[in-house]
Amino acid sequence: MVFPTETVYGLGADATNADACRAIYTTKGRPSDNPLIIHIACPEDAERYAVTSSLFRKLADTFMPGPITVIMPVRDTIPASVTAGLGTVAVRCPSDPVAHALIAAAGVPIAAPSANLSGSPSPTCGAHVLADMNGRVDAILIGGACEVGLESTIVKLESDDTVTLLRPGGITPEEIEATGVHVRIADAVLGALREGERVLSPGMKYKHYAPRAPLTLLDGTPEQRADYVHAHADAGTAVLCCEEEMPLYRGIIAPQLLLSTGARDQVAYYAHRLFALLRETDLRGAKKSYAALPGTSGLELALYNRMIRAAAHRIIPLRSGASTEKVENEKGR
Ligand code: TXA
Ligand code: MG
Repeated sequence: MVFPTETVYGLGADATNADACRAIYTTKGRPSDNPLIIHIACPEDAERYAVTSSLFRKLADTFMPGPITVIMPVRDTIPASVTAGLGTVAVRCPSDPVAHALIAAAGVPIAAPSANLSGSPSPTCGAHVLADMNGRVDAILIGGACEVGLESTIVKLESDDTVTLLRPGGITPEEIEATGVHVRIADAVLGALREGERVLSPGMKYKHYAPRAPLTLLDGTPEQRADYVHAHADAGTAVLCCEEEMPLYRGIIAPQLLLSTGARDQVAYYAHRLFALLRETDLRGAKKSYAALPGTSGLELALYNRMIRAAAHRIIPLRSGASTEKVENEKGR
């Protein structure tokens, strides 16, 4: 069944039922080595499915229910089809009231990946869910637009006071550090996986969130980015930009392909809208799209992480002194 959460919609099944969980993989077209998150009604339930610790309780006290997922050693109450046999399980306690009511009524944890078809952006409203899942699942619970709009922050517990950030989301590394927990950021959060690098979170190795119209990220000042777009745009070019930069593109980009990401300083609004905007580029018939490369502090880290994947790492450096290596890269793709 598909259900809303505060991050993105999930495609859920009884996490204690191996067959039900296997069906999730086939419905989504998801590789079976990419494990699922289990969703619980309250943090105290975690102990039945995972080996928790004082560090888990500290994170749970501060951030649960909410958009954070914690990876811990798994207990045998959870089948290997959920964990891909990793020996750990990802646990999340959503704050969305519909999600909470569903999990509480089920009486079992609900294993759920994002309810998109593998490779397309995660669904953040009912229309996205229907586009990807209508006719493929038993039931769809439609709520409102997901508040956060990006998938949960994933951390893996390491020692008594250290976590590794595997996926940035609505809870920022700065907020976690503020509780006295040290956050190590996994290399893959900020960049491409190098050949042979050990994959901590299997989902990080797959191409994600890709719209059909290829997205390219521009790393430069607003003027440098606009100049680049002017030189490369045609009738099918879409631009995602903040309200303040809209005038730089009027007359160059077709009005229906000029998509607002909100006011420049409203990062949470951009996060809330990002996946909808990526789908919108396709719905509006864009042939290619451009957006600014986000920064990497606070909530922007989550935007950065999703957008470099959506752009398949096509980043054009426009700042003076930047190398031309990645520009060559764009030509090659
Ligand atoms: O916000 C969310 O987390 C949403 C909603 C529905 O809760 N769910 C979600 O699930 O984003 P999914 O399957 O799209 O992403 C889960 C990620 C994958 O990258 C997967 O590889 C990773 O979590 N993961 C799950 N279990 C893991 C484990 N035991 N160790 C490392 N990574 C794990
Ligand atoms: Mg997903």
